[in-house]
Amino acid sequence: MRANESTPDRSADGWTAIVLAAGRGTRMRSRTPKVLHPVAGRPMLHLVLDALAAAGFDRRVVVAANADNGVAGAASPHATVAVQDAPLGTGHAVLAARDAAGDAERVLIVNGDLPLLKADTLAALAEAHCAERAALSFLTVEVDDPTGYGRVVRDAGGERVAGIVEESDTDEQTRAIGEVNAGVYTAEAAWLWGTLAALPPAPNGEVYLTDAVRSAVDSGCRVHAQRLGDETEAQQVNTRAELAAADTAMRDRIRASLMANGVTLVGPETIYVDAGVEVGEDTTLLPGTHLMGDTVVGRECEIGPNAVLRDMRVGDRCTIGGSTLEGSTVADGVDIGAYCRVRPGSVIEADVHLGTYAEVKASRIGARTQIGHFSYTGDADVGEDVNIGAGAITANYDGTSKHRTEIGDGAFIGSDTMMIAPVRVGAGARTAAGAVVTHDVPDGAQVIGAPARIREAEGESNELRQREEP
Ligand code: UD1
Ligand code: CA
Repeated sequence: MRANESTPDRSADGWTAIVLAAGRGTRMRSRTPKVLHPVAGRPMLHLVLDALAAAGFDRRVVVAANADNGVAGAASPHATVAVQDAPLGTGHAVLAARDAAGDAERVLIVNGDLPLLKADTLAALAEAHCAERAALSFLTVEVDDPTGYGRVVRDAGGERVAGIVEESDTDEQTRAIGEVNAGVYTAEAAWLWGTLAALPPAPNGEVYLTDAVRSAVDSGCRVHAQRLGDETEAQQVNTRAELAAADTAMRDRIRASLMANGVTLVGPETIYVDAGVEVGEDTTLLPGTHLMGDTVVGRECEIGPNAVLRDMRVGDRCTIGGSTLEGSTVADGVDIGAYCRVRPGSVIEADVHLGTYAEVKASRIGARTQIGHFSYTGDADVGEDVNIGAGAITANYDGTSKHRTEIGDGAFIGSDTMMIAPVRVGAGARTAAGAVVTHDVPDGAQVIGAPARIREAEGESNELRQREEP
């Protein structure tokens, strides 16, 4: 959550940003606070905070319903948390941020359920607010279906804003208005605190931030309404259906941006990429691919069809067929799958080949090592240029604890070898097909049998013939 080097620090100009996130979110029918529901894999609250940071709002306050719900926890690394002790409306919520906003000269206020807002839009509103010398500014947007939004009422000439009318207070005439309040505001702080404190509550007992518009107009203060060009940016999330709509819009935006940055998407509508994922130029994503969480994929890779990568670091020129990879690092030139599973904590070094049904967990696989067929490698440190045959397994769990297996550089693990951890197979060592390795194998040694013992006589070589192709 860091601003781009080139973005100005707006706190130097007296700005503090306030994110409203203390509502009950009853329309979601969820035990999870609304703003923590993810859109394109990232909690809405974090998407809003990302946009604020990218727009240069370095001082951020999040209004949460209490100090120890998930919202406060999710906000606290990135913002100051203010508590609104009762959900008495958006105007009341802004007042709850007053102490945390301290000596802010002006504030930018964002509803926490606007995951599609762009940093440029926030920056432009802040700049227009100052240029217009307004007491209060806000974003408006023309929508096809204004249901659920506050309607923007203008004077007869259509020039000046007269106020915002909430859905529940609309009459037939105002209900038909297509210009709505997007839920993003800027205001001179001293004026705002005084105005909000004096606002009478609405009939439902809530203090509406939107009523500050009429107060400003009535007292002759300048109000600036800034029109938003792109309706999708104003997509709010009150319901699960709106959550799905926001997710769809965000993923479309992400796909378009990947393509603009030189990534080929085959069947883009079948490809799901989370917010924040990075993909290098000339990489191709094939149908059914999911890139999730904190994932970075390098250049010239081919991913999919039907690959699932979560929290992965993938280098350049990798080929990853329909496999599931999580929480691991894959270096350049690696070839994986189809049907592999790489579980968290693994490091796959350059030019490794993982074939069909290879499972790897919390292991290092050294450069150029080949695990061509079904096998399990868990809690292992596998050296470079190792060949692991079909069906080979690290038996890492004794029923109580996990143990490590070490395989030295250039070792050859025959098909169906069981390595009973903790155990080490030395560099250049060979295990015969079906060997059950219960003791360390010295470098360069050959072992056979169950339990495996070192082969010494030359004449036994036929029995030892490995059935695995290198
Ligand atoms: C609000 C606006 C409406 C606008 C719409 C845009 C008001 C009164 N109405 O309506 O004009 O068109 O957003 O999306 O502001 N919150 C608190 N404390 C509260 C109540 C709400 O922190 O006591 C927070 C919520 O968590 C949410 C945000 O404020 O993130 C907006 O609240 P919400 O209930 O979604 O307002 P809307 O009814 O959508
Ligand atoms: Ca809302």
